[in-house]
Amino acid sequence: MDASRRTDDEQAARWNGPAGNAWVDLQELLDEMFRPFEELLVEAVAAEHAGSVLDVGCGTGGVTRAVARRAGHCVGVDISGPMIETARAHAEREGVPASFIQADARSIQGPSTPSSRASVSCSSATRCGPSAICGAR
Ligand SMILES: C[S@@+](CC[C@H](N)C(=O)[O-])C[C@H]1O[C@@H](n2cnc3c(N)ncnc32)[C@H](O)[C@@H]1O
Repeated sequence: MDASRRTDDEQAARWNGPAGNAWVDLQELLDEMFRPFEELLVEAVAAEHAGSVLDVGCGTGGVTRAVARRAGHCVGVDISGPMIETARAHAEREGVPASFIQADARSIQGPSTPSSRASVSCSSATRCGPSAICGAR
């Protein structure tokens, strides 16, 4: 097995295990703590936004929901099952037009045509540093 594959598996295990569960437990506190970054990010996305918005490494979806309220819809993607479940439950409860996909962000293909217009927000990088998504380019 090559080293990058092992790192991928470790990340998936971490975020589907202890780190993901801890984040879910502390979600309200963490969302409150990162609120100022969330507001800056939402402003920036709203200013640039011209189509669909994808929030990469959305976690429990605080930024995804904030962008969705502002932009009309947002899709969050995250490798963690527990975090995506929590994100979906919140969006449903609050009636926010956000949808969530559990996937490794590195497997996502970009827009296939020049006319496809999409914004990508990486709330993990903005709120938690670029290394939050292992191997993100
Ligand atoms: C530090 S948390 C930040 C979560 C959220 N963006 C926030 O600000 O609350 C980092 C997130 O990146 C996700 N992540 C890490 N590697 C990933 C990958 N390869 N694909 C998708 N999500 C990934 C983790 O599951 C975790 O939810």
